[in-house]
Amino acid sequence: MLEQLEQLYQQALAEIEQITDAESLRAWEIGYLGKKGSITQMLRSTGQLPPEQRASFGKRANQIKLDLTAAYEAREKLVREQALARDLEEGQVDVTLPGRARPTGGLHPSTQILRQLYAIWAEMGFQVYRSRDVEDDDTNFTLLNIPPHHPARDMWDTFYTTTPGVILRTHTSPGQIHAMRDLGGNGTQPIRVILPGMCYRYEQVTARSEMQFHQLEGLAIGRSIRMSDLKGTITAFAHRMYGAHAAVRFRASYFPFTEPSMEVDVECFLCGGKGCRVCKYAGWLEIAGAGMVHPEVLRNGGYDPTVWSGFAFGMGPERMAMLKYRISDIRYFWQNDLRFLEQF
Ligand code: DAH
Repeated sequence: MLEQLEQLYQQALAEIEQITDAESLRAWEIGYLGKKGSITQMLRSTGQLPPEQRASFGKRANQIKLDLTAAYEAREKLVREQALARDLEEGQVDVTLPGRARPTGGLHPSTQILRQLYAIWAEMGFQVYRSRDVEDDDTNFTLLNIPPHHPARDMWDTFYTTTPGVILRTHTSPGQIHAMRDLGGNGTQPIRVILPGMCYRYEQVTARSEMQFHQLEGLAIGRSIRMSDLKGTITAFAHRMYGAHAAVRFRASYFPFTEPSMEVDVECFLCGGKGCRVCKYAGWLEIAGAGMVHPEVLRNGGYDPTVWSGFAFGMGPERMAMLKYRISDIRYFWQNDLRFLEQF
């Protein structure tokens, strides 16, 4: 039996020399030193030996068990160190690899134009006033001098809600009423604001018209505001937006909430006024509707029109973006197609 023990001992030592991973090492430990391991069993059977052999066998077997336990511990340490070294080797960061750029988001072209507009109008003393998207019929139309059944309502095809009188605003002009009532101090305070926001129209969607789009409204109220102030202000805006030499012209027009009303054109910045496809060979691009605030509208805002006057204007950021970036189809704006959006 002693011989068998020595043999087992040699075999165990030889095997452990070959072990390089934790799993095999664990199996080795169980096989030799575990509760049912071969060395453990040998130790247990000491009692079967003739009494005179028991002491020396037991002593040797215990020695072997201690040796193998030490061998196991040493091996375990080695295996752990090797695994760590391998990990470090394999997981090493190669600092010479070219970097991978993180994709970054970008600002929507409408947002870019809007921010440009905010900056220009802020420079000229106009603060942003936010008005609601969901409006009542009265404020969107009647208080702007467009009574029910008035033919001018045809200019704005409306989205109605299931609640009578509640609609989606068809333009930002109703914000004028809110601004006057909110900031006007019952018709005692001057106002200088811009009102940006989304507008909604029940319209056939085509390359030229969407059912939702931004507008940027402007409103100035004071005691002696005249049409020359409107013309000067709009011209100063156009020079900041399109260059100091851009020519501006005003054409008579009609809006129910202004009197007189006009449309504002800027010299086509693509052809310099010579005529091209974008300006349809007119040499001019329309950039805004504008006018002197109608006395009825001033009154609805709480102002006495014999003392107070004002001007207003409305412009379309998407239209401006289309002209600036030569976007041929307004439907691109809200389709969320990254191939379009990533170009800006
Ligand atoms: N609200 C008009 C529209 O949607 C645009 C407009 C024209 C606004 C003249 C104004 C203005 O403030 O004075 O077509």
